[in-house]
Amino acid sequence: MITTPVTGVFGAEVHGLDLTDLDDAALTELRATVCANEVVVVRGQRLSAAEQSAFSRRLGPSGEVPFVATMSEFPDVIRVVKEADEGKAFNFGGAWHSDFSFQSSPPSFTILAAVDVPPWGGDTVFASMTAAWAALDAGMQNTLRELVAVHTARDAYSRRMQPIHSGMRGMTIVCDDSADGEQRHPLVCRHPETDREVLFYNRAYVRDIDAMDRSEAVALMEFLHAHTTEARFTYRHRWQSGDVVIWDNRSTQHLALNDYAGFRRELHRTTVAGTAPIAAR
Ligand code: SIN
Repeated sequence: MITTPVTGVFGAEVHGLDLTDLDDAALTELRATVCANEVVVVRGQRLSAAEQSAFSRRLGPSGEVPFVATMSEFPDVIRVVKEADEGKAFNFGGAWHSDFSFQSSPPSFTILAAVDVPPWGGDTVFASMTAAWAALDAGMQNTLRELVAVHTARDAYSRRMQPIHSGMRGMTIVCDDSADGEQRHPLVCRHPETDREVLFYNRAYVRDIDAMDRSEAVALMEFLHAHTTEARFTYRHRWQSGDVVIWDNRSTQHLALNDYAGFRRELHRTTVAGTAPIAAR
């Protein structure tokens, strides 16, 4: 498999692949490439929803998709759409997050395929949580290894958030009380496929630190957000028609930029079921 790094830290473009026609050996190699590089770009694909669903299922069964309506014919495919006239309305994925990290077993991988992309703007920014972790000093690492993060969808999908989502015409998001639930995951996890340590934090869904005084927890979460989203740990993907980006949710977080008012943007997303995060220590 021929790969080119997309930054000096993480991310790679993989060349010469047809995602609709991979033999088992190529699929195994691609999976290992995604785990090692955390974000992989494959250009020139133009997958139908059926082809994307089939490819995604080869990486593993579909993850459960809460709150967001999926395609009726393909219950694992979300159409991520913002219409040209929706202006600066809220955009899906527009806050730093790792997909559905509030689940007991969050997704392992996400596949996002460009269908209709603006001529400029609408980039997706990724942060390597492996690189952000590695840059911390040993004292901070030892402290963080002992902590448990409280993940919840409460500030994204609780009933009070419905008006924000209802502003989007192209997507149906139904908030409900399940968003108020909490899942506790180790703040520092061991990646189940690479065995590397990663900081499993994102500001959208990590809303508290277990057993920590609230003001201390807020200060720590602010630090973690500022640190992990520093430019030196990021890759900014500028979409071209036909791009497919596959990322590892266990070792990255991401953000969809909302700077393309006047242009339509449509991408199709599938997630692959993961396993319960395991503590690094
Ligand atoms: C998402 O957060 O899954 C969507 C990202 C994007 O639209 O760029």
